[in-house]
Amino acid sequence: MMSLRDWCRDILASHTEGSCPAGAGKDPPSPAAEAKPNEALLAPDELEKQLLQVQKLAAVGVLAGSIAHDLNNLMMGISGNLELLRQAKEPDAASQKYMDNALDASRRAANLSRQMLAFSRKGSQEVKSVDLNRLVAENLELMKGSMRKGISLSVRLEPELPPIEAEPGKMQQLIVNLVTNAAEALGETGAIGVSTGVGELPAAEFTWSRVEPKPASGRFVFIEVSDSGCGMDGETSDRMFDPLFSTKAAGRGLGLTAVHAIVKASGGAILADTAPGEGTTIRAFLPAP
Ligand SMILES: Nc1ncnc2c1ncn2[C@@H]1O[C@H](COP(=O)(O)OP(=O)(O)OP(=O)(O)O)[C@@H](O)[C@H]1O
Ligand SMILES: [Mg+2]
Repeated sequence: MMSLRDWCRDILASHTEGSCPAGAGKDPPSPAAEAKPNEALLAPDELEKQLLQVQKLAAVGVLAGSIAHDLNNLMMGISGNLELLRQAKEPDAASQKYMDNALDASRRAANLSRQMLAFSRKGSQEVKSVDLNRLVAENLELMKGSMRKGISLSVRLEPELPPIEAEPGKMQQLIVNLVTNAAEALGETGAIGVSTGVGELPAAEFTWSRVEPKPASGRFVFIEVSDSGCGMDGETSDRMFDPLFSTKAAGRGLGLTAVHAIVKASGGAILADTAPGEGTTIRAFLPAP
């Protein structure tokens, strides 16, 4: 059986690929690098630090899975009872509104716990044909309610978007994390743009991809999320995909790690364009059939 240390090394090997110097991913690995990928890339201190991060991440994943499972059951109980209450008596207009609000909130909470489940292994779903446009529209509808009043949301969905082969829960996680980050980067007012697209793209398009290995030319669908928010300085931009790296609060910093892992597993790419005070645009490319 694989030891925990070996398992961590495997995960690190895949994680550290993303932080290779530009262009390194395209060169054939040297025999030394092939034999000991992590030692070749990381100093022992750094390796130890990252091992700890990966272990912490794994623990958070397990915890998130069990909390999400219980939360999901509780939310089903709450929304079920609210539905019954609504049917049991003719409510006046005000009570009707309160019940609808509570139902809406419980649906959103159930949705959140489903995302947590999808993030942990327990929720792993089957790969199937996914209509990204529909997922984007559904999730934005859910998320709109929790956005500040001064935030404008513009959506442009490519009508000819082909379906992709993916786990719906993972795609939802990707969308929700990108849009949540965009909303959190804004103050009371600002703009978020979400668009989808498809195209035959040359490998050169992915020169600056933050995911290794970079894909070859091919057909890709993409989702782009842009915001007029605070943007990122060089250090934040370099570290944004690192597990548990966050400028917001301790214990956060898993959103983009998940996005990175999902796109990497699909064989796609991520381009990020950001600067302090100039907003951020993240574009995630996924191979299309
Ligand atoms: N759209 C954005 N604008 C500005 N900074 C961003 C944006 N997206 C990500 N970042 C930066 O990257 C960091 C990592 O993002 P990530 O989504 O992984 O974690 P988080 O949002 O801090 O926490 P969570 O785990 O709740 O998602 C953020 O803390 C923030 O500093
Ligand atoms: Mg986030």
